[in-house]
Formats: sequence, structure tokens, C-alpha cells
Amino acid sequence: MGPQERYDFLKQLSAEAGALALDFWRRRSELIVELKGPSDFVSHADRAVEEMIRDSIARAFPGDGFLGEETSASFSGEHERLWIVDPIDGTHNFLRGIPYWNVSIAYVEDGRRTLGAVFDPVAGTMYHAMRGAGAWRTGPQGETRIAASNMAALTGAIVCLGHHDRSPDPRYLEVRRALMDANAAFRNFGCAALQIAHVAEGRYDAYVELDLSSWDAMAGLLIVEEAGGYVAPFPGPQGLTVRAPVIACATRVAASLTTLVRGSAKLP
Ligand code: IPD
Ligand code: CA
Ligand code: CA
Repeated sequence: MGPQERYDFLKQLSAEAGALALDFWRRRSELIVELKGPSDFVSHADRAVEEMIRDSIARAFPGDGFLGEETSASFSGEHERLWIVDPIDGTHNFLRGIPYWNVSIAYVEDGRRTLGAVFDPVAGTMYHAMRGAGAWRTGPQGETRIAASNMAALTGAIVCLGHHDRSPDPRYLEVRRALMDANAAFRNFGCAALQIAHVAEGRYDAYVELDLSSWDAMAGLLIVEEAGGYVAPFPGPQGLTVRAPVIACATRVAASLTTLVRGSAKLP
């Protein structure tokens, strides 16, 4: 089967996984929350949604590989056809009842981002893309092709500076200072994939995070690329299982933003 069949499957799967996650969200007071590390939460919802996604993929495409956040420790390396999944991205928001979280699913073929879907079940909105076929938003308003913003300068731009609650990394303060000096607005809504998808529709002009996992990034990055935006090379040289910096933005701010982030965070 080619990418189109997998694309149709992806959209269906993403909707079903989102419905399951939404059901857990509505009953979140019943969930037992565990800590993976300081301010790094997980519950049965994350594991159950990942299991449902993994099982569906295994039934439909038994030869495909799978890399999911909650089972990443058992990931077995290179695959020609690989699904990369964050069952609930924005878990801290999810558990606190903040309606800004998503299900993120990417499909990578021969090492190339090929399909991506970021589904916001609370809003009922799915952002999705197949390489070469544009970026799309499907929701209560119907289906619309989306495009990254036309912002030409950092002055007046809205830059989402993602930063996980568990990571007291002082480089973020340097990036924030540099953004302030450049008269850019900065935001962080605690949910990487959805913020990246919102860059693809021009709601924000950029998303930056210095240390992001492939399951947070891969689907959103394809959607931004297909929306005509700029995406810095990702993953890093160490591959899909090692966190790396992400910059996704409107094309016209790409040069100045990349220089600002690399300089202030002292990236190699
Ligand atoms: C996290 C969120 C957060 C981002 C972190 C991610 P999780 O994912 O997307 O916004 O800053 O880097 O790990 O833990 O909620 O799936
Ligand atoms: Ca995540
Ligand atoms: Ca997650």
C-alpha cells in the first residue's frame, strides 16, 4: 500500500485515538497519576491510547515499525516504514483540565517525514499533511488548506518558546531575553505538537524548543513544511530517539530567528 492509503488510515486512527483520549479527559478525576520524573506525569490514559494506536497499526500494517513515547525504551532501531506516536502530548495540561493537548502521529518512510496528524479532540480539529499534498485543517468549520504566516520580522511576531516543566535549563532565559530585545512576543502553552500545528495555520509565527523528542515534533514539522513554513533540520545527528532542538516558523523570519536562537542558546 502507498502513502495515500496510509494517509486515510492515519486520519481515521487519529480521530479514534482522540475520541478515546477525550473520554479519559472527561473522567480525568478518576485517573491515577504517576511521576516519570520531576513534573513529568503519566497516567493510564497515555498508556491506553498508545496501546490502541499501536494495535491498530500492527493490524493494518504488520510490517511497519512503531516508536511511541510510552514504549520508547523497547524501540528496536531502524525501520523503512515507521510510525512515531505521542498518545497524549501536553499531559500536564490534560491532567489539570486545561483544554490544550493533542494526539500526535507521524509516519516516516525511508527516513523521510511522509505523513502527519495532530488532533485536538477538545476543539474537534485535526491538522494533517501528506508530503507534497499541502497542509490541512479539518474541523467543525469543514476542511481548509492552511498556510504559515507572512510575518517578515521578529518585531511583532508571536514566538512560542516551548519548555518542559521538568527542565530548569538556563538557556531558555537567554532565548527569552534575546526575543525581548528583538521586540517579539513569547508564549508557551505547554503542548509542543499543537503549538507547532498552530504555526502551520499562521496563528503563531514560530515555535522553538531546545530539546524535543521525535514524537513531539515529527507530525507537526511535516504540517509546517507543507504549509509553506520553514523547519530547521530535525532530528539531530543522533537520530529519532535523542532529543534535539526544534525551530519551525514563517519562512520570512527563519534567518533572523535561527540566528537569534543559535546565538543566545549557544547551539553548536
Ligand atoms: C511535552 C509537552 C511540552 C514540551 C515538552 C514535551 P508531554 O510532552 O509537549 O509542551 O515542552 O518538551 O515533552 O510530556 O506532555 O507528552
Ligand atoms: Ca509530548
Ligand atoms: Ca506524551
